[in-house]
Amino acid sequence: MTALLLSLHVLAAILTVGPVAITASMFPRAARRALAAPDDASAAAAARLLHRVTRVYAVVGVAVPVLGYATGASLGVLSDAWLITSMVLTAAAAAVLIVLVLPGQRRVLEALDKSPSAASDPVRRLAMHAGVFNLLWAVVVVLMVYRPGSTTGAGL
Ligand code: HEM
Repeated sequence: MTALLLSLHVLAAILTVGPVAITASMFPRAARRALAAPDDASAAAAARLLHRVTRVYAVVGVAVPVLGYATGASLGVLSDAWLITSMVLTAAAAAVLIVLVLPGQRRVLEALDKSPSAASDPVRRLAMHAGVFNLLWAVVVVLMVYRPGSTTGAGL
């Protein structure tokens, strides 16, 4: 059972966090291109598609912490420091996505429709937020693999 949960957890992480990390990183560049060419409908369409993928995969990504928690419960490691740290960092990354990245993308898309000049500042901030988000995931993955302090980890 533990092996099944762990497999599903890792599969969910690859299939959901991976796409979100990529689309959140690609969005600012696509938005900049759309801003530079307001008459180019395909540039705006690309930014819109990246926002949609970020949003949809963020929702499906809820499976990652849920399956991770179930795996941790099954292994009896829920009170391990490395796992508690991972959960806090996962919550922080989710907060960055929900509070900063997704609403920021939405604001840029709205500005693209109305006043493109108002969208350039949010685009700069979005690139930074996407970077913070990706850094948090990277730290969580390292913690998941090394599990510092645990007897089952790769060891640090
Ligand atoms: C609430 C958040 C999370 C919890 C509770 C959790 C829990 C766990 C647990 C218990 C394991 C098994 C460790 C072991 O075999 O001893 C694991 C493995 C793993 N997790 Fe998570 N996880 C969470 C979030 C994430 C996230 C966000 C990612 C990726 C972005 C991730 C990627 C992985 C990977 C790749 C492994 C396999 C590591 C290995 O076997 O070497 N986890 N996780």
